Amino acid sequence: MTDSMQKLKSEALETIKQAANLNALDQIRVQFLGKSGSVTGLLKHVGTLPPEERKSFGEQVNQLRDELTGILTGKQKELEAAALNEKLKAETIDVTLPPTVKPLGSIHPVTQTTDEIVSIFASMGFNLVTGPEIEDDFHNFTALNFPPEHPARSTHDTFFLEPDAEGQAPKLLRTHTSTVQIRTMQDNKPPLKIIVPGRVYRSDWDATHTPMFHQCEGLIVDEIGKIHMGHLKGCLMDFLKAFFNIPDLPTRFRPHFFPFTEPSAEMDIGYARRDGKIVLGEKDKWMEILGCGMVHPNVLKNCGIDPDRYQGFAFGMGIERLAMLKYGIPDLRDMFESDARWLKHYSFSILEQPNRALGA
Ligand code: DAH
Repeated sequence: MTDSMQKLKSEALETIKQAANLNALDQIRVQFLGKSGSVTGLLKHVGTLPPEERKSFGEQVNQLRDELTGILTGKQKELEAAALNEKLKAETIDVTLPPTVKPLGSIHPVTQTTDEIVSIFASMGFNLVTGPEIEDDFHNFTALNFPPEHPARSTHDTFFLEPDAEGQAPKLLRTHTSTVQIRTMQDNKPPLKIIVPGRVYRSDWDATHTPMFHQCEGLIVDEIGKIHMGHLKGCLMDFLKAFFNIPDLPTRFRPHFFPFTEPSAEMDIGYARRDGKIVLGEKDKWMEILGCGMVHPNVLKNCGIDPDRYQGFAFGMGIERLAMLKYGIPDLRDMFESDARWLKHYSFSILEQPNRALGA
């Protein structure tokens, strides 16, 4: 290699060594190997040499160019790796640290309780289903075996909508989630196993009634013999023990009347009153907690299901009532006042998990 080549080489090596980043390195590549770079300049010089020197000079310049190209590529890789490391370092997240951002808002006790109920029934294999809040008389009453003019209709304090222009029977705000039993049985073939939370409406307002509240409905339909009253009792006892987290919660079933079930029952749980507070799990007093029964054959028939082949059970419960009992909330109406102090006290963190069935 000629002296000038050696000089050029050491100059190039020194500059490459100093390159601080990829941009600088690119400029160095242009400076030495670009179209008007110094190594390329040497090649152009070949033509001016005496013929006997041209070959070896040319070979040496090519060798220099290849050497520098290799060194540049090596340096490029090194700088790329360093840049990636820097980036990774800057983006490191320690997932074990607690969140620094305060979550906006919190979970209302009705939402939390709904999630808890649904999660327990889901662990028993129930499917979550929802339905419309604006309903018709058929789904809210007739299909559920309420006879026309039957007094049970008026106990529901129904909100009716204005009749539409065609003079059809006015729509209504559903008074219970049992409507979704009907819709599910009309649209699906048994076996069915559903849990249905949702809003319902009744024209009522006092310490234990609000015009809008929430219910959760359950329904199982299967072939006759596969589902009987024993399953209903076991399922609901397991549910309440898991929900209140009291493994030996006393429960009892009392005969009752609902048009859509036969036989029908109300389920009670045992409690005691101590220092004016309700203590669940005692056998001192009983309080009603939900309604249930075996699906009435007429209801199955009204949905196109053969009652000689299928039977099932259903149940319905008020979500606010369960929330009040579990979390010691004294007045139902506060649930819907949106008082920030009440919400701060009774609501749940968005990171809170709904509880599961016992032992799950
Ligand atoms: N729909 C009833 C109500 O609103 C609750 C209910 C009772 C639902 C018994 C049921 C049932 O499915 O079997 O008061």
